[in-house]
Amino acid sequence: MTTIKKQLEKMGGWRLGFLSQAESQSIDALEVVGQVPEWLHGAFISTGPAVFELDGQYVDHWFQGLGMLKGFYFNAGQVGFKNKMLQSDTYKHYVLGEPEGPEYDDGNVTVFPFGDKGSAMTESLGDCSFDPKSLETIGHIVYQGELDVHLTLAHLVVDPVSGHYINVGIQFGPTTRYLIYTIDTVSSKQEVIAAYESSLPFYMHSFSVTNRYIVLFQSPLIFDVEALMSGGGFTEMLTKAEGAPTQFIVIDRETGTSTAIFHEESMCFHQVNAIESADVIVVDSCDVDRIDGFADGLFELLCNPDYQVIPAYLKRHTIDLQSNSVSTVQLTAAALEFPRINDAYAALDYQYVYAALTERSHNFFDGLIKVDVEQKKDVKYYRDNCYFGEPIFVAHPDTPTEDDGVVMSLAFDAVKNQSLLVVLDAQSFTELAHAYIPIPIPFGLHGHWFAT
Ligand SMILES: [Fe+2]
Repeated sequence: MTTIKKQLEKMGGWRLGFLSQAESQSIDALEVVGQVPEWLHGAFISTGPAVFELDGQYVDHWFQGLGMLKGFYFNAGQVGFKNKMLQSDTYKHYVLGEPEGPEYDDGNVTVFPFGDKGSAMTESLGDCSFDPKSLETIGHIVYQGELDVHLTLAHLVVDPVSGHYINVGIQFGPTTRYLIYTIDTVSSKQEVIAAYESSLPFYMHSFSVTNRYIVLFQSPLIFDVEALMSGGGFTEMLTKAEGAPTQFIVIDRETGTSTAIFHEESMCFHQVNAIESADVIVVDSCDVDRIDGFADGLFELLCNPDYQVIPAYLKRHTIDLQSNSVSTVQLTAAALEFPRINDAYAALDYQYVYAALTERSHNFFDGLIKVDVEQKKDVKYYRDNCYFGEPIFVAHPDTPTEDDGVVMSLAFDAVKNQSLLVVLDAQSFTELAHAYIPIPIPFGLHGHWFAT
């Protein structure tokens, strides 16, 4: 442990964002430089790994750190801040020494509004409920309805048909079943609406939904089910199945039939949006063209001075359901990840993607980017010495233009060793305001806007 920790400390710079930091703060009004729009009312809440030492060992991978909730609270131009370690059973076991819970439940990947509460999720079944105002952990969400699966995805999608959340559960067995189900946040009822069966237990991190179709992406990155069941972490549970296909799986929600459409070997963590029209589905996603490397011990790799993020590129896949073929174009030359859109445009014709940008000379997410997917143009934003988390878009409440609103991101200043919020005007992609917080926050994963 000390070797990796000391090495990251010694190398400094952006690597400082991978050091454990569990300290909490609660600040009513940050010092804001610039102007935060007065119409912004609500909270930008995100989660992400923050404590990397478990059982006296530095974990192998960023994704294995224990989750911290971070909230920026907007009211009439003022910005408050709060952060707290998620009090999951997993956290209580490792940090407070309590007995181990029945399953891993540390929601360090995503947060979503769930009724008047929040849900912090990872890919296990134990989703933690929290109070969006205090960031106190409440307990587990108790779902209604049988769902016989081993894992779920951490990326919920809003179903354009029912308005409910929709997710995929994975059930291992002689074949692997992918159960697509809706979640009603009022009754907490889960209901399976479609299923897909595969001879390979392929890993999947996100998916897309349109009115008629569900789009899964199968890559050769598969679960080592035995390692997973015996409690293996991220680096042990995934492996590349040589020769396994890469394909889009399109499930017709009306007929229940599924179609596999072969694609060149690649992997995608994040589907961005999917739009159906007649016999064509357009799927935009962030793709990488190599499968190996994801499940390696990332922290050991970070100790290499030449370390570079495996670049992901925004691609548009046009799936022709008549010919069962797909054609692909790249939408920008820039390497990017953590793509977000104006959520009101999910499953609809849309124009803009916001994402964290990697300029390859800088090794990590050292900018933000807005991509116009129609015009194939982009605008970039940088701040000196700063590295950026996922940018979320918040729409102006009164205007119907797709990019009328703000984009915000929790950034890390590697020279000050402090984190900061940046708020950009989404149209011009220029900074409206930034606000430092007194502590460094380790690099996080995903966030969401909680309106009030
Ligand atoms: Fe993700």
